[in-house]
Amino acid sequence: MDKEKKVLTGITTSGTPHLGNLVGAIKPAIESSKDKSTSSFLFLADYHSLIKSQDPILTHGSSFEIAAAWLACGLKPDVVTFYRQSDVPEIMELAWILSCVTAKGLMNRAHAYKAAVAINGEQGISDLDKGVFMGLFNYPVLMAADILAFNADIVHVGNDQKQHIEMTRDIAARFNHLYGEVFKLPEALISQSTGILPGIDGQKMSKSYNNIIPIFLEEKALLKMVRKIKTNSLEPGVPKDPKICNVFKLYKAFALESEVKDFELLYQNGIAWGDAKNALFERLNTELKPLRDNYKEIIDDRETLEQTLVSGALRARETACSILQDVRHAVGIKSFSN
Ligand code: TRP
Repeated sequence: MDKEKKVLTGITTSGTPHLGNLVGAIKPAIESSKDKSTSSFLFLADYHSLIKSQDPILTHGSSFEIAAAWLACGLKPDVVTFYRQSDVPEIMELAWILSCVTAKGLMNRAHAYKAAVAINGEQGISDLDKGVFMGLFNYPVLMAADILAFNADIVHVGNDQKQHIEMTRDIAARFNHLYGEVFKLPEALISQSTGILPGIDGQKMSKSYNNIIPIFLEEKALLKMVRKIKTNSLEPGVPKDPKICNVFKLYKAFALESEVKDFELLYQNGIAWGDAKNALFERLNTELKPLRDNYKEIIDDRETLEQTLVSGALRARETACSILQDVRHAVGIKSFSN
């Protein structure tokens, strides 16, 4: 067990799971969890979601939807340690301890905080910290705790999260310098391969741009959504360039190489946009139908989902409790009797 590399990743539970999540995070993480030389820790970062949303119904609903999505897409909870951050109190405990060795100056340099301050500056607001909450400011400390509570070797993240892993290493190194070698310094594994999946308006698919295609839409709603994807006004019969086409980019993310080649030919031959969209819908629907069926079964049986997460947290806590014991011991918070 100790020889295995621990691979960890978290998903913030805000919003409805969409095709960008499926291609960029869910599929690659499930694929890499099949590697027998590693053990995978995959969790729902529900406390992180409070930074973005103060709506309890939304927070709870999204957490549930995202948990169900992972299982519907093939995550095997007996192979992966799958849990809710909020079910592992050791993470919050560690976040406090780490915050006591984290320089405020380091947090001042975090991208998300700097962006918030920059917006205030641009708007001529004299209090640059206006609207900035401590949750946002401390975000990198909680993320460091997520990782260090398990002494993960490798952390799967998108490019935008790279700085957080560097900060985690800084914080861990500072702790080790003060108290002895308790933490490993984690490495970031940045997923590049997938490229950026466009949303229906052509920008990166993201909840913040309001352009997502949810994974579990019903067939009719999916078709309606696909019909809304932005294209240009070229007429049927006029050759079209697949490289700049949103319909094509989405198709490519879900099709086999040979299917992509055939689709390319249809573009050269001037396929009508309506036909291209129908082909995309068919391709997506073939891929998503079984996932949609799994999802329905899971959401009809909330109890099983709950049990899955509770038992995942029990396993996660075995690791986290043992590391936290070393941490407490190292800082001098320990029993008087031994
Ligand atoms: N911040 C990550 C994101 O928004 C989610 C996350 C929280 C995470 N804690 C983590 C990712 C720990 C990796 C490791 O994408």
